[in-house]
Amino acid sequence: MTAYDIIEIKKRGKILSGEQIGQFVRMVADGSASDAQIAAFCMAVLLRGMTDEECFALTDAMAKSGERTVKPRAEGIYADKHSTGGVSDSTTLIVVPVLAALGVKCAKYSGRGLGHTGGTLDKLESFRGLSVSMTAEAFEAQVEKVGAAIAGQTERTVPADKRMYAVRDVTATVDSVPLIASSVMSKKLASFADVILLDVKFGNGAFMRRTSDAVKLARLMVSVGTAAGRKVGAAVTDMDAPLGDHIGCNAEVREAIEILQGKRNALSELSVYHCCKILQMAQGMREEEAKERIGEVLGSGAALEKFKEIVVAQGGDVRAFDDFSLLPLAAHRKEIFASGAGRLHVSALALGKACARLGGGRSKEGDPVDHTVGIILKKRAGERVKDGELVAEVYYNKEDAEALSLAQGAFAVRRSYRARPLVFGFIGKEDI
Ligand code: URA
Repeated sequence: MTAYDIIEIKKRGKILSGEQIGQFVRMVADGSASDAQIAAFCMAVLLRGMTDEECFALTDAMAKSGERTVKPRAEGIYADKHSTGGVSDSTTLIVVPVLAALGVKCAKYSGRGLGHTGGTLDKLESFRGLSVSMTAEAFEAQVEKVGAAIAGQTERTVPADKRMYAVRDVTATVDSVPLIASSVMSKKLASFADVILLDVKFGNGAFMRRTSDAVKLARLMVSVGTAAGRKVGAAVTDMDAPLGDHIGCNAEVREAIEILQGKRNALSELSVYHCCKILQMAQGMREEEAKERIGEVLGSGAALEKFKEIVVAQGGDVRAFDDFSLLPLAAHRKEIFASGAGRLHVSALALGKACARLGGGRSKEGDPVDHTVGIILKKRAGERVKDGELVAEVYYNKEDAEALSLAQGAFAVRRSYRARPLVFGFIGKEDI
């Protein structure tokens, strides 16, 4: 069957067999399908949808399209987590050391920031000297020795997704639930984690604006991961306002360290939630016991020490933990004040965009990132503020009036604020 025939079947809204999907993915990976054919296939999927079985076949074929990391020989359960992307979401920097301190091995493959969302690899590179490029062997060895490693997947991992994603990016075919699910899950399944916790965000700073779309995506990803024999759960969480109080690479690393030292806010709350869910899935631990164990490693400093071990193992300058001048903020500071008295509203999207425009993020793959650019919230969404009260500080190096005005516009003061729970729901294998 040719690529043309396969596109034709999906164009007519018919169901593709696993074999047909596998064949198309092989043509994507070996270059025999053209970009035009990939675009047509993706548009047909976007408009016609896919069954769970088709989505699993697509994910499985993509996961097998390149190099896969094999499970280390050492006994133990390996966990991974993945967020669909947000603003001030540095949960990975907290969750991984907490779990590793509790003996759950974390084999965490992460990505870079794009657009208004930040990326874990960029944040980790805030530690001078730290490397996020590792061979599969080095990654595996570090997970065995330290209990955790956080790195980027290699160029050879899931090449079919790399090609398809590049085409989707320029053909308005990113926002298809089965295409996102297969893209994310193929990268997870190319690695060896037994337990995968997904954080599917909704709200103005998320990929999915609507809760119902986030739930759909979460359910499909759990279904695909479960069909592949992994333990997968998905938290559906709010991303209307920034999760933590810091936005930008150095600023977010500072905040992750502060949380491991005892600071508490929504970022710490969600991190504890994720750790709890992973412990429940990995070890069948009851919620109360999981919370207690997490509290112990946070309280004793064991999780903080584990984070230092990970940084050292990856070549980073560990002095930054005690000396924040090694995680500097940019030279210029603009203060933002409340424009009235009432309840504060904060837009994650506007702040993420402002940070990126100031150089703290990237608009296209490969752009450099200024780690010192940051936004520090002094007041959180929903808090009562007085007229003229300081609500945020913006740190930047290059003047950009439009970006600064975007940051200013991210804050509004209104009479009321409708608080939403941080976690809308959790989808496990029994919910699919
Ligand atoms: N992130 C991915 O890795 N793939 C998508 O399709 C969307 C977000």
